[in-house]
Amino acid sequence: MTTQDFIGKENFTIHTQTVSESCPSNIALIKYWGKYADQIPANPSISYTLNHCKTNTSMEFIVDEAFSVQTFLAGNEEVKFAEKIEKYFKNIEQYLPWILKGKYVIRTENTFPHSSGIASSASGFGAIAKCLMALDASFTGRNSEEESLRKASFLARLGSGSACRSLYNGLVVWGKTDEVEESSDLFGVQYPDDEIHEVFKNFNDWVLLIHEGQKSVSSTVGHGLMNTNPYAERRFQEARENFVPMKEILKNGDMERFIKLVEHEALTLHAMMMMSDPAFILMKTGTLEVINKIWDFRRETRLPLFFTLDAGANVHLLFPNNGSEEQIKAFIEAELLQHTQKNGVVKDVMKF
Ligand code: PMV
Repeated sequence: MTTQDFIGKENFTIHTQTVSESCPSNIALIKYWGKYADQIPANPSISYTLNHCKTNTSMEFIVDEAFSVQTFLAGNEEVKFAEKIEKYFKNIEQYLPWILKGKYVIRTENTFPHSSGIASSASGFGAIAKCLMALDASFTGRNSEEESLRKASFLARLGSGSACRSLYNGLVVWGKTDEVEESSDLFGVQYPDDEIHEVFKNFNDWVLLIHEGQKSVSSTVGHGLMNTNPYAERRFQEARENFVPMKEILKNGDMERFIKLVEHEALTLHAMMMMSDPAFILMKTGTLEVINKIWDFRRETRLPLFFTLDAGANVHLLFPNNGSEEQIKAFIEAELLQHTQKNGVVKDVMKF
């Protein structure tokens, strides 16, 4: 499929309407870091979709009023966010030709704490894209569920790259790779269920809130710094190559190799930040203390507790429900929670 396949229909009938949609967040296992024009990823990525960390959004579209966007986050008006959404809507007009023909009031709420540092852009843009597709169905005649989800993923990508993976449950791939049929740089695709070992379908993600508040460097700036990073090409190549072992691991359930690959990806993401010019570090002391404790715990117990990181200081603790989870949870409560700012942890599971 190409961008042309997403151009919107010129026949539409608009009317005032409110729609509501919800979309979960996701956490990448093979990371996307670095992009080309028009939100084309420099390498393919794969993520788990979460279950409880979600954004719920209602979108009121009012005809007979000039185009403008008003946004409320948890009841509070957010002018900066509204400006961002206005720009985004102008940018996607060719895909939804009715989009600039009314006023919007968007109310949005995250199920996770606002200051937690958990990225809300993936679930946020996912929910907005779903609302837009609900309006589109009403104005232009319904598309199939499959087409509508694919276009929501396509549109979400143009808001925030990783958001395109949040439209599907389970494991989701974004970015063209020969290892996954139908994969595309333009939208996310669900990783085939029959290619995933059962052990990976019942997984926890407990997010340790090491540092609540704004990140020092946004992901937009971080992606941009890959343009001049001397290690960037090698990194993109490695991420592409990592799909080969990932595919084998997902099929045969090799937990040890999975742990090694996922932690390597997380550390590589942060290594790229340290090797940018200017360099930056998003991990905090607590992040490193937790990582070292996880490694000690694994050495001593051989239990499958491991971590991944997104572009921030928080640590995503990953572990399967395979009989050892109670011992792992007790260890987290006793040893790792003390490294968070306010005993903050968001307990989530992967959505299949
Ligand atoms: O979608 P963005 O631009 O916020 O970038 C997200 C990048 C990472 O979270 C660090 C990795 C990923 O693949 O989600």
